[in-house]
Amino acid sequence: MSPILTIESTCDETAAAIIDEDGVVLGDCIATQEELHEKFRGVVPEVAARAHLERILPVIDTALKKSGVDPHDLHAIAVADRPGLAGSLLVGVVAAKTLALAWEKPLVAVNHLHAHLYACQLASDVPVYPCIGMVVSGGHTSLYHCTSPLDLEYLGGTIDDAAGEAFDKVAAMLSLGFPGGPAVSKLAAQGDRTAHDYPRSMMHDGKFNFSFSGLKTAVRYSIVGPGQQDFSKLKLSDQAKADVCASFEAAVVDVLVGKSAKAIKQFDCNRLIVGGGVAANGYLREQLADSARSSGFDIIIAPMDLCTDNAIMGAIAWEKIKRGQYASLDLDITPGLQR
Ligand code: KG4
Ligand code: ZN
Repeated sequence: MSPILTIESTCDETAAAIIDEDGVVLGDCIATQEELHEKFRGVVPEVAARAHLERILPVIDTALKKSGVDPHDLHAIAVADRPGLAGSLLVGVVAAKTLALAWEKPLVAVNHLHAHLYACQLASDVPVYPCIGMVVSGGHTSLYHCTSPLDLEYLGGTIDDAAGEAFDKVAAMLSLGFPGGPAVSKLAAQGDRTAHDYPRSMMHDGKFNFSFSGLKTAVRYSIVGPGQQDFSKLKLSDQAKADVCASFEAAVVDVLVGKSAKAIKQFDCNRLIVGGGVAANGYLREQLADSARSSGFDIIIAPMDLCTDNAIMGAIAWEKIKRGQYASLDLDITPGLQR
C-alpha cells in the first residue's frame, strides 16, 4: 500500500509525517511552540490553537516535500482526534478532514495516548504487545493493560496533576523556564535526592491511580513556606535548587516505578512499555531499567526523539488500517480522556 500522512496537534506541537506500511518515515516536520508559551510558564490553549492554525499547512507541506510523495498517491490521512486541548485538536482534525475531502482519501482517527505507547513498538523489531503500558506526559499519567496496540484496558491514572505538569510547576517555582522537565532533570543531577523528604502519594494504596498535587505543594512549602505566593524574591543558592529538583524527581520516579512494577506483577505480564514526554527523563529511564532487571521483566522506553509529541508515533494508524477501521468525514474531536 502507498504511504499515509499523519497529523498531530493535540497540545503545543504541530507535526506531520509521511509513513509507509513498514513504519518507515519518508518525511516529517515538527514545529514547536515553546517560545510562545515560555513567558506564561505553561501552555495557553488559545495561543496554542492560533499557532497551530498558522503552522499546520506549512508543516504538512514540508513533510510531503521531504518525502517526495505526491499527495494524490497517499493511502490515507491519519489525525490525532483525542485526548488534548479542544482548540488544538480542532485545527488538526479540520485540516485532515479538508485534505481527505480534497484529495479523496480515507481518514483514520488516532488516540494520542495509544500513539505515545506505540512509539515503543517503533523502536522494537519484535512485537511489544501484550504488555503493561505507562504514559507519562504533560497532560497524562496513565497505566494500561495492553493486549494489542489498539486494545488497552485503563488501570488508573492521575486524579489531579500529571507528572509532566508537576515538573513544569516546580520549574516555574524555581524560575527554570518552560517546559520544566528537561531543566529540572538537568539540575537534579547535581543535587541530593535525600535532601527533602517529599511525599510519595498513593504509593502503597494497592491501586493504579496517581496524585502529584500534594508533592507540588510540599515542594512549594519547602521553598517559600505556607501562605506565601511570591516566588520572584526567592533567593535560593544553585545547590539548594538542585537539592529541591533531585528530591522532587526522586519522589515522582519512585511512584512511577513502584506502580508500574505492581501492574506487571498483578497482571502477570513480562513487559513494560513507557511513552510520553516524561519518559525522556534520564533518572526515570535508569530506575525503570533497574526495576526491570531486579524483577525480571522486559522494558521498552520510547526513543528520546519520540517521547515528546510528534507525528511519527501516528504510525499506529497502520494498525487501524489493517483492521479496516477508518473514520468518517463527520469525525469530531474528543478532548477528554475516554476510559
Ligand atoms: O508528551 P508531551 O510532549 O506532551 C503531552 O502530551 O503532554 O509531554 C510534555 C511534558 C512536559 O510537561 C515536559 O516538562 C515533560 O514532558 N518532559 C520531561 C522531560 N522532557 C520533557 N519531564 C521530565 N524530564 C524530562 N527530561
Ligand atoms: Zn503527548
